[in-house]
Amino acid sequence: MEIPQQRSAAARVREEAEEFIRLFHRENPEAGDPRPRLAAVRDELARTGTYRHTPQELVHGARVAWRNSNRCIGRLYWNSLRVRDRRGVVESDRVAEECFEHLREATNGGRVRPVITVFAPDAPGRPGPLIWSEQLVRYAGYGDHPSITVGDARNAPLTEALLRLGWTGGAGTPFDLLPLVVQGVDDKPRWFETPADAVLEVPIRHPDDAGWGEWGLRWHAVPAISNMCLEIGGIHYPAAPFNGWYMGTEIGARNLADTDRYNLLLAVARRLGLDTTSDRSLWKDRALVELNRAVLDSFDRAGVTISDHHTESRRFLTHLEREERKGREVGADWSWIVPPISGSATPVFHRTFEERQSSTSYVHHPGAQERAQGRDLV
Ligand code: ARG
Repeated sequence: MEIPQQRSAAARVREEAEEFIRLFHRENPEAGDPRPRLAAVRDELARTGTYRHTPQELVHGARVAWRNSNRCIGRLYWNSLRVRDRRGVVESDRVAEECFEHLREATNGGRVRPVITVFAPDAPGRPGPLIWSEQLVRYAGYGDHPSITVGDARNAPLTEALLRLGWTGGAGTPFDLLPLVVQGVDDKPRWFETPADAVLEVPIRHPDDAGWGEWGLRWHAVPAISNMCLEIGGIHYPAAPFNGWYMGTEIGARNLADTDRYNLLLAVARRLGLDTTSDRSLWKDRALVELNRAVLDSFDRAGVTISDHHTESRRFLTHLEREERKGREVGADWSWIVPPISGSATPVFHRTFEERQSSTSYVHHPGAQERAQGRDLV
């Protein structure tokens, strides 16, 4: 007997599936009449409770999910996302291996390419694999308080959990690569040491002060989010790591600057010889600008793709115009789109946006944050 809640969940999947198939055919006229495909999907859903995307649907779905990301300023190139179809991969060691291969392909010797790898979807009674790590590349954090942490305080809980489990890979530096934590189908979570050749890193130097070189600051080239679920037309792909390239402020105004991350503003200000006794000297603001100059200049010198917030803001407006011409509405979250420094010097600051929810999108599922912190990792 079907209980009402189950029936409505099945009905929702059917609606989302139909909506996606129609969109796919509308945006890909060469795919022809949607009706035979709609009938086939309905039939497959009725028989099995799920359906399998064609390779073309998967590619388009992953791209549209990017296009629908309210928080992403970098969506102009949504249609060039490279999709690695790995739906047959369910075991943790093979998932990890494919994630490392993803990094190599995305890094591309420094000419960073947007890539997604899609692993097996959830099926009725059989959840797909899951990546616990929030990104494919993360630095360890040692210590239990931001002010006394070596490394990235954000990852201190995961580091602690891994140390308890016997991970001995960390040298105790501020930039130790954490292993990747993956849970395969019908398995418990396992960790896999990240091969050094899969991760390109950039030493951070300041263009006017050679002394920064010895400081040992660095950051990785590729931001690859790995704990969001890709949802396409009612199908959930819980493991679908994706990356773009960095915008400098993510590193210079957040990762290295936030008080609960590397918290470097005071150290930067001291290097710059600023008066740090009063907020009104604007030492934090000046340190932020120099740190961001250092990040952009260092990536440029290393030949690694990075964009700045002025360029990326303009590109986003181009994206809005382009989408409008296609008759599509773009949802956006102002508080995420406006860059964390010099907001008012970018055009995105001076307008408003509306958020839009779509059933084809990247979603944080409940528990993702706890898993990324290694909570209950056994
Ligand atoms: N802000 C995150 C970080 O600093 C990455 C988020 C995705 N960023 C991107 N440029 N695709 O690691």
